Amino acid sequence: MNGAREKWTSKVGFVLAAAGSAVGLGNIWRFSYVTGTNGGAAFVIIYLVAIVLIGYPMMVTEVAIGRKSEKNPVGAFKALAPNTPWWLVGALGVFSGFVILSFYSVVAGWSVAYIFKAIAGFIPDTDFAGVFVGHITSTGAPIIWHAIFMVLTAGIIAAGVVKGIQRWVKILMPVLFILLIILVLRALTLPGAGEGIAFYLAPRFGDVTAGTLLAAIGQAFFTLSLGMGAMITYGSYLSNQENIADNGGWVVGLDTAIAIVAGFAIFPAVFAFGFDPAAGPGLVFITLPAVFAEMPAGSLFGFIFFVLLSVAALTSAISLLEVVVAWLVDEKDWPRVKAAVSMGIVIFVIGLPTTLGFGVWGDVRIIGMEILDFYDFLASELALPIGGALTAIFAGHVWKARTVVDETNSPPGAIKIGNWYGVLIKYVIPIAVFLVLLFTLIDFLG
Ligand code: PFF
Repeated sequence: MNGAREKWTSKVGFVLAAAGSAVGLGNIWRFSYVTGTNGGAAFVIIYLVAIVLIGYPMMVTEVAIGRKSEKNPVGAFKALAPNTPWWLVGALGVFSGFVILSFYSVVAGWSVAYIFKAIAGFIPDTDFAGVFVGHITSTGAPIIWHAIFMVLTAGIIAAGVVKGIQRWVKILMPVLFILLIILVLRALTLPGAGEGIAFYLAPRFGDVTAGTLLAAIGQAFFTLSLGMGAMITYGSYLSNQENIADNGGWVVGLDTAIAIVAGFAIFPAVFAFGFDPAAGPGLVFITLPAVFAEMPAGSLFGFIFFVLLSVAALTSAISLLEVVVAWLVDEKDWPRVKAAVSMGIVIFVIGLPTTLGFGVWGDVRIIGMEILDFYDFLASELALPIGGALTAIFAGHVWKARTVVDETNSPPGAIKIGNWYGVLIKYVIPIAVFLVLLFTLIDFLG
């Protein structure tokens, strides 16, 4: 046996850990390019609606499931619905944890590599697209950075919930806030920043399509780490003395604020130097280095940016690994260190094809996709929404909305979840998410 369950030692511990999980590549890398390609503020408005109607209710639901059961996702469903197949939803979450972390670590590795590229200096008129493609298509460097990132992730998880996760998020999250503020102040004071702000704040509803709605709902799940049991797992370390509605509000609020604020760091800079905000996934690795190269002291700001991105990725990666480790510790009685180290190695290996897929395995296609895109599609576009919708159905109809409401409102806090919750969790969320899935599949098959 592994003894009594560890608990966060303070409210700040949980909020920073959960916000650390939520704030990641999704807020900076993914949010900025999805906003750039989906109509700027029009996307942001729809995304905010998705956060309020789907993100926040799902956040409190997952935390409540975790806190009540004091278990990893598989154990949580087993504890709340014994002798039913619902534990499979938890198992799907553990599977998503493996897959997402395996490629997340590869992209995070690019970000760490770019810290050193920034130190070496971003030189104007460089072919930054060529530099980026050169980096990701090479064999050695991305694998080494992927390995280093996994060692950091597994090292923190091996140290435990309080001495590992909580200790590190208390250091890294304030660093992240400070770096972000520095970057925003720099970007907003660039000559020509106004155009970027206008692009970001002027809603172009003409650009909104069904795809925009789906992108907004998908982004809401990904950015809040929902649908795969990460928040169930972190909730399982939350004490009964803490109110879930308030804590969930802090986490969702911080994540949303950071995504919105990151937009104020990125779009003004992109416009000030005449680049294209709709550059897609290469926005932060190709466009931003070009921006930094033009900016006074740009290498310093580039350095700050990629440290920020790497720190954000690390505090998310640890939550992905914690899902897998908590499952082995709770269900299979593994010692934490053994689980963290061995799963770190396994996930590193599972990630290798995604990086080789840009280089020596460049011709490989799985159902028509590059390997990394396939992993992302499988996990983010299929497993997360399916896991999320099933969790909502479970909470609303099996565990019962009433029980979730009581759990989230106990002990009483500033926010009180009302009856609206039942409508959202039982009907609105499952239907909205299944529509997303349906369109994803039609789009994919069509
Ligand atoms: N929320 C993270 C991000 O925005 O980058 C990604 C993520 C972390 C998704 C943990 C899921 C998860 F369990």
